[in-house]
Amino acid sequence: MDKECVLPRHIGIILDGNGRWAKKRGMPRSYGHYVGSDNLEKMCNIICDMGIRYLTVYAFSTENWKRSQEEVGTLMNLFRRYLKRCLKSAHKNKMRVTIIGDPTALDEDIQETIRILEDETAAYTGMHLQIALNYGARDEILRAVEKVSADVKSGKLSGEKLSEEEFASYLDTSLVPDPDLIIRTSGEQRISNFLLWQIAYSEFYFTETPWPAFDTEELNKALDYYSTRNRRFGDAK
Ligand code: IPE
Ligand code: IPE
Ligand code: MG
Repeated sequence: MDKECVLPRHIGIILDGNGRWAKKRGMPRSYGHYVGSDNLEKMCNIICDMGIRYLTVYAFSTENWKRSQEEVGTLMNLFRRYLKRCLKSAHKNKMRVTIIGDPTALDEDIQETIRILEDETAAYTGMHLQIALNYGARDEILRAVEKVSADVKSGKLSGEKLSEEEFASYLDTSLVPDPDLIIRTSGEQRISNFLLWQIAYSEFYFTETPWPAFDTEELNKALDYYSTRNRRFGDAK
């Protein structure tokens, strides 16, 4: 089968294994995060060039605040740097960038960078990159329920029957279709609170390769795997 015909429209990646990758090299976890963040920039450009329409990357979960203060601080500094660089490549590639998750817990300067990134790229029609930052699917669903409830109270919603499509429009991911393929690097085979609603019919690809070492060859393996799947959506095709 020609791979071009069966490229996923939307890929989600759980960027895992930065710490273990660095430890194996006798380096601190922070070094793994640094190389991981550079790799994200590189892979994002490659995925964009391939013609993938939507990419969602899981960069920081609502649970990741439980890590040491030092590690959280390192990650936040890397996000500061990454988001600014991302704006430059977004302009270059005409890429739209939005953040999913709850930004209110992030430092004010990061929130400001996010606002600029989202505003300045809002009209771009190239690849749409979603960065999951302080994201947890359970938190996203609860926030959606709160918004639904507010709309019922104000009379905007009837409160009688809510369709799946209506509910999905209250999720952080309302701008993009559900992911076709989820990739998790570094050997773990769990979802860790990523896009629980949206992955109802996604294909999964797990690789032992840690995120800092994930390259084009690894991506092609994931795409080859995807192209062999006979996609079904609950109906008898
Ligand atoms: C992924 O790498 C980055 C984040 C979750 C922020 P990890 O930091 O989870 O690395 P491992 O899984 O401990 O190796
Ligand atoms: C998942 O990785 C979250 C991100 C990639 C941001 P974790 O390393 O935090 O997940 P667990 O703790 O192994 O489930
Ligand atoms: Mg991990």
